[in-house]
Amino acid sequence: MRIAVTAENDSAEHRVAGTPDTVKRFVALGAEVVVQAGAGLKSGIRDEDYKTAGATIADGAEGTIRDADVILRVRRPSADDLNGIKQGALVIAIMDPYGNIDALKSLAERGASAFAMELMPRITRAQSMDVLSSQANIAGYRAVIDAAAEFGRAMPMMMTAAGTVPAAKVFIMGVGVAGLQAIATARRLGAIVTATDVRPATKEQVESLGAKFIAVENEEFKAAETSGGYAKEMSDEYKKAQNELTTTHIAKQDIVITTALIPGRPAPKLITSAMVASMKPGSVIVDLAVERGGNCELAHPGEVFVSENGVKIVGNLNVAGRLAQTASALYAKNLYTFVETFVDKQTKAFAVPWDDELVKATLLTKDGQLVNPNFQDAA
Ligand code: NAI
Repeated sequence: MRIAVTAENDSAEHRVAGTPDTVKRFVALGAEVVVQAGAGLKSGIRDEDYKTAGATIADGAEGTIRDADVILRVRRPSADDLNGIKQGALVIAIMDPYGNIDALKSLAERGASAFAMELMPRITRAQSMDVLSSQANIAGYRAVIDAAAEFGRAMPMMMTAAGTVPAAKVFIMGVGVAGLQAIATARRLGAIVTATDVRPATKEQVESLGAKFIAVENEEFKAAETSGGYAKEMSDEYKKAQNELTTTHIAKQDIVITTALIPGRPAPKLITSAMVASMKPGSVIVDLAVERGGNCELAHPGEVFVSENGVKIVGNLNVAGRLAQTASALYAKNLYTFVETFVDKQTKAFAVPWDDELVKATLLTKDGQLVNPNFQDAA
């Protein structure tokens, strides 16, 4: 089995799909690994580090993917990035498939068997392959660090000879993987933390992290979680009650971090311009949902927008990628654990288990066709 790790062509993408650790593991599985020269630099990994781990280094994408059975990437490549691909080679990445059917079709036409890591089922067996969790965890941490950097005051309470500094009040909206890590990080920095979510299961999780849970806890709230563990879109009535509660709470906060998402839908708007106007100057909002339309009305993708009353609204993109070394290490490990299931431990033979539920869920294209049932209708 020959595995290729290519460089990302988006200059804002600092992550890489392979690390010396995963190269070593692939080599131990009996694979040959080729890494594109310079692929790891933005994640702090030199070509020599990959070589020491057992990889060979190739120049350019075409030279790297030549004869490869498996191509590992962070983001979806274009068809041109796959010039010279061996027919049927697996291309595994965060494919961002929704709304990108034409791009997927062009990968199919180029002969790639493309897998979307973000479609990995959230079952126990696949936890170590769950890129949504590994990257959301990093994003939740980094959101708090970004907020602290923009905030003009200290996070913890400090009692000094020159006076007492109050602890910052931090409010986390949306308590999935990113929100939980944001709570834990803000608590470690000494902030007073409150959090909200529409899924009742989160109340106990918030409290177990030492934060206070704030939500409209009515009958609709009690039924707001889908069988898959995700949030439902709430009724207008619920949104109104949630809005009222949030309005009074937000006005008293120093930092708000929003992470609320609903699968397959635009991010719910949780912070209106009026709410921003009620906050103190110097307060900070970090909107982690900005790539999906944003939870805050005033969030601008890729910008730190300052409102008329001096509230900073941070709309950083690819927040996990802002901590590229850690994010790459975890992402590369997610990829390794998935690809490892394609190799027979005894014979070291490479054979994709096409009937496995993890393969079926993540496979998008095969034999020139878009094969994933979730995207065939759209095609
Ligand atoms: P996500 O990224 O889809 O959404 C983030 C959070 O926003 C969710 O907690 C959601 O309930 C919340 N939200 C949505 N609308 C909201 C609103 N109007 N107001 C406030 N909050 C709102 O969620 P993520 O992080 O992907 O986690 C989703 C679920 O998957 C959770 O139950 C999590 O525990 C579960 N999970 C299970 C795993 C496994 O079993 N392997 C691994 C990771 C997560």
